[in-house]
Amino acid sequence: MIQFELNGRQVSTDDDPATPLLWVVRDTFKLKGSKFGCGAGLCGACTMHLDGQAVRTCITPISAVAGKSVTTIEGLGTPDNLHPLQAAWHDLSVPQCGYCQSGQIMSAAALLAQNPNPDEADVDTAMAGNICRCGCYPRIKKAIIETGARSLAYEAAAPAGLQRAAEEEQV
Ligand code: FES
Ligand code: FES
Repeated sequence: MIQFELNGRQVSTDDDPATPLLWVVRDTFKLKGSKFGCGAGLCGACTMHLDGQAVRTCITPISAVAGKSVTTIEGLGTPDNLHPLQAAWHDLSVPQCGYCQSGQIMSAAALLAQNPNPDEADVDTAMAGNICRCGCYPRIKKAIIETGARSLAYEAAAPAGLQRAAEEEQV
């Protein structure tokens, strides 16, 4: 039995320890937002966060996840409370077919957690492993940079009390 945290909830599974995390999330826990692309760690479609780091879950055995925290696209935001990246994705109509997009957003979210205001070169480096067959790269990059800029604008404009309230809400 392997236990871990999935989108803030403690879960356990008796799947074979060698089973890739992607299959466990999709088939055992029925969260279908993360996609199977290459199965070899090369395309990024399966990206989730493991203890806050973007990982390729098609090549991450469930045994490596024991006691750790996994976040999927379903845990990043909700339709009523979008993550800022999801809001930018919506505003800029980023996706075409959509297949790669949950992986793109999870990689972008990990980047912004490390670097809240990346420039184009930072984005190119961080997103190099996420492939989009529809070629949405310009809109993906724009959405990431705009999300960083929006966060800075909010911090600059918000009164200190409002910022404190927002921070406390996140705790
Ligand atoms: S499906 Fe995991 S990297 Fe392609
Ligand atoms: S939107 Fe179609 S593969 Fe990226």
